[in-house]
Amino acid sequence: MLTEDEVRNALKAVKYPGYSRDVVSFGLVKEIAVREGAVSVIMNLTSSNPEAARQIRTESEHVLKAVPGVNSVYVEVNQPKPPPGASPQPGLPQQSRVPGLHRIVAIASGKGGVGKSTVSVNLACALKALGVRVGLLDCDIYGPSIPLMMGIHEKPTISDAEKMVPPVGHGVKLMSMGFLVEGDQPVIWRGPMIMKTIQQFFTAVEWGELDYLLVDLPPGTGDAQLTLCQTVPLDGGVIVTTPQEASLGVVRKGIAMFQKVNVPILGIVENMSYYTTPTGDRVEIFGHGGGHTEAMRQNVPFLGEVPIFTEIREAGDRGVPVVVSAGDKPPGQAFLKVGEALRAKLG
Ligand SMILES: Nc1ncnc2c1ncn2[C@@H]1O[C@H](COP(=O)(O)OP(=O)(O)OP(=O)(O)O)[C@@H](O)[C@H]1O
Ligand SMILES: [Mg+2]
Repeated sequence: MLTEDEVRNALKAVKYPGYSRDVVSFGLVKEIAVREGAVSVIMNLTSSNPEAARQIRTESEHVLKAVPGVNSVYVEVNQPKPPPGASPQPGLPQQSRVPGLHRIVAIASGKGGVGKSTVSVNLACALKALGVRVGLLDCDIYGPSIPLMMGIHEKPTISDAEKMVPPVGHGVKLMSMGFLVEGDQPVIWRGPMIMKTIQQFFTAVEWGELDYLLVDLPPGTGDAQLTLCQTVPLDGGVIVTTPQEASLGVVRKGIAMFQKVNVPILGIVENMSYYTTPTGDRVEIFGHGGGHTEAMRQNVPFLGEVPIFTEIREAGDRGVPVVVSAGDKPPGQAFLKVGEALRAKLG
């Protein structure tokens, strides 16, 4: 007599596409029914990738038909509906939908002042140093600081095709909300204005061919950030945190924000990890390793850590990111390592 256990055992030969684990150990099998040689199996997938479902069904049917005593097989694989406009998952981000821009990656943080813009700028320059074509889009509506950090004082020019041509600093093309406002005037951006402006960053800018476009989001994970994530066709997100923020669980908010808009999380960067004294002693001001621990806990990749170095702030103030001015020294090296980790995730 055929039993449910026999059917379950047989299904252990079916691997989840792209993984070494099988569908049973993934907990996908919801129901098994056996009656006089007829087997019926129901599985629930969490992925909305139709190809994965098709493969699992075909393979399951195949292995079950080979079980002695089985003469008919019915396999149903249920999937959640993909959200409108979402790219199929799981796995790496799909090709971006903006022509010429191969990967668009947002840099976010649970709250302000964790060094997000510093990380964005140095990461862009690190990727450039690794031979990648990079652009940087500063979407910080509250205080666009990136042009200063990049040492870019000119504004975009207008091409014959009446598109904005981004100025270039240290080999990185840059567009910023800051280019669109006069001087130090505080701007009150109203929702629809922000949306229109951000859309123009994609439709009215001559980016040319870029391997990666990094997008510095405004700090936080509120409605403004969420709306930006929905407006910009993102392929992935990076979360910047300090050890302290990580241990307070602020990282989780960043993860939840990307998940809400179905943007794959490429990893966490821990900034201001520790301080190295001039004599080389290590001082862990905010504790250390919180970013790594939280990444493990949340099951997202950890991209690396950047210590506190006076040179990092000074370089930012001078408009020459530390990766460019001292790529061979520990502060520059820290960012280059994060850049390499990110490139490995993006392919
Ligand atoms: N690893 C570091 N070592 C030393 N100084 C740093 C480091 N990271 C950032 N800073 C400094 O901390 C300050 C805040 O950094 P930054 O402006 O990048 O933060 P932010 O998260 O983008 O802030 P905001 O929320 O205001 O956008 C800057 O003066 C910057 O130079
Ligand atoms: Mg900033």
